[in-house]
Amino acid sequence: MAVTLITSFASSSSSRFHYRSFSSSSSPFSSSFVRFRLPPRLRLALAVTPLYCSSGARAMAHTLAHATLGLTQANSTDHPKISFAAKEMDVTEWKGDILAVGVTEKDMAKDANSMFENPILKKLDAHLGGLLADVSSEEDFSGKPGQSTVLRLPGLGSKRVGLIGLGKSASSPSAFQSLGEAVAAAAKASQASSVAVVLASSESVSNESKLSSASAIASGTVLGLFEDSRYKSESKKPCLNSVDIIGFGTGPELEKKLKYAEDVSYGVIFGRELVNSPANVLTPAVLAEEASKLASMYSDVMTANILNEEQCKELKMGSYLAVAAASANPPHFIHLVYKPSSGPVKTKLALVGKGLTFDSGGYNIKTGPGCLIELMKFDMGGSAAVLGAAKAIGQIKPPGVEVHFIVAACENMISGTGMRPGDVITASNGKTIEVNNTDAEGRLTLADALVYACNQGVDKVLLESFFFAFINKIEEANSTIFFVGFCINVQIVDLATLTGACIVALGSSMAGIYTPNDNLAKEVIAASERSGEKLWRMPLEESYWEMMKSGVADMVNTGGRAGGSITAALFLKQFVSEKVEWMHIDMAGPVWNEKKKAATGFGVATLVEWVQNNSSSS
Ligand code: BES
Ligand code: MN
Ligand code: ZN
Repeated sequence: MAVTLITSFASSSSSRFHYRSFSSSSSPFSSSFVRFRLPPRLRLALAVTPLYCSSGARAMAHTLAHATLGLTQANSTDHPKISFAAKEMDVTEWKGDILAVGVTEKDMAKDANSMFENPILKKLDAHLGGLLADVSSEEDFSGKPGQSTVLRLPGLGSKRVGLIGLGKSASSPSAFQSLGEAVAAAAKASQASSVAVVLASSESVSNESKLSSASAIASGTVLGLFEDSRYKSESKKPCLNSVDIIGFGTGPELEKKLKYAEDVSYGVIFGRELVNSPANVLTPAVLAEEASKLASMYSDVMTANILNEEQCKELKMGSYLAVAAASANPPHFIHLVYKPSSGPVKTKLALVGKGLTFDSGGYNIKTGPGCLIELMKFDMGGSAAVLGAAKAIGQIKPPGVEVHFIVAACENMISGTGMRPGDVITASNGKTIEVNNTDAEGRLTLADALVYACNQGVDKVLLESFFFAFINKIEEANSTIFFVGFCINVQIVDLATLTGACIVALGSSMAGIYTPNDNLAKEVIAASERSGEKLWRMPLEESYWEMMKSGVADMVNTGGRAGGSITAALFLKQFVSEKVEWMHIDMAGPVWNEKKKAATGFGVATLVEWVQNNSSSS
């Protein structure tokens, strides 16, 4: 049986399949991104089925693309839902697997009898006969950030008590997110199904920050629990299913905030999964298929338009298509639109993500130690942030805001059909580019994606906002603000793993942001402070454009080594209409966590915060 299947694979791969534009119904199976566990024989049968084959389709420059080279397909993941509940109660009465107490260094202070001074720890220890104080001294637990200990102690309704260090104090969203991550780690280690989280000194958290602190704990827990085992042949499922957050208040506002945190976290997880997926599985077609699946999952508010190579050619996207030209996996241009199902739209936003499912460098191939070619599956991290945000927004359904999600997905490979160093290519706004380095491909794909984003939004936005302001006689419809509103209504944020230079400048935990617009900078930075992601504003130094002059075309695609992240941003600016507010985020550093050897999901949480802030619900 197995032999027959292998034979059929060999014959199907040698016959010519022509690929046509993506359509989910043309695939015999709903997705090649996810597979359900099947007996090995059946697995092989599934794996050998070509993704989109149609003998009647027109031939393309692309040669044969294998459906899932290496026969790998992701295992399905149904992320276990954790239910969060906000409670106010006496912690000594809580029943469950782990009672996790967040403690500062000050909370760990002991009196002359070596007993805790902190009232909550004191009360707990009264039930435990002083064991908590004893063990914490023996284990040298002092409440430093990153320290945690879980003890199995009799005397409480909880099976275990965990102490989790918060350092000097916990105030930022990222400190509470880390607390949630530590709770998840403890739950994983002892296979807990129910945990409670409480602070030893909850009075140190102001009433205003209780909501954001509790939601940061919730997202830390969801994200900390997540492990991507789709590509491992064996995996353990976490058992955690309920988390009680005690001492942060109760009520519908808090419940809503916890739900929001959960929705964002599942968007982050989706983003991580996209980035973690290897390039032989996550091809541009599969990325487009994932985007289409979002549109069908949230069909009440979301639509998808996937353009094939021919359609991109009609739109004159010469810059994007030149990057795609070497690959056997054809490009797919992804455009999702979120529109609330009712109520007026007063703001239109576009999120544009770099979607290089693999970046070999092209003829300027990535070579030498530190070039990270083996990690270049993460070069679609910008698009993962955009699609992760799309998932969360489809779930949250913010009112009053329309959001466009745009990805020019392709692969930067090497072949006889690919662009050469020195070639001159023409972008969809008519500007010509001398490609002096094929490895500066991200900006070439973004050029056409940005032109597309500007063309999509502006005209419609101007007309509709005019109408909207007029018909609804909204307060701002006085002459001055009316005309201002006219121009500021479409805003574009692009995200890209664009330059190694940005990693040199800011390291791997911060992204560089570029925008000529102070107000947009302020908005996005504020969003990042709420999400806990780190951004640093960089200069769009116009005088550096000198480095981008070409003898033969309007510009070259790379300047020198100096200021490489800045010249990349200046290049993108050439493709953004002056009427449009725009920000570029270079996230080459934070896309990947080297220690965990995994994607971070960077960008999703900030984008969703920013969209939410532009909706009429805030
Ligand atoms: N995808 C890379 C940028 C990158 C490099 C991200 C390392 C993360 C880690 C991008 O396409 C690229 O190759 N950029 C070049 C630009 C250069 C040729 C001007 C770079 O940064 O080296
Ligand atoms: Mn590159
Ligand atoms: Zn790249």
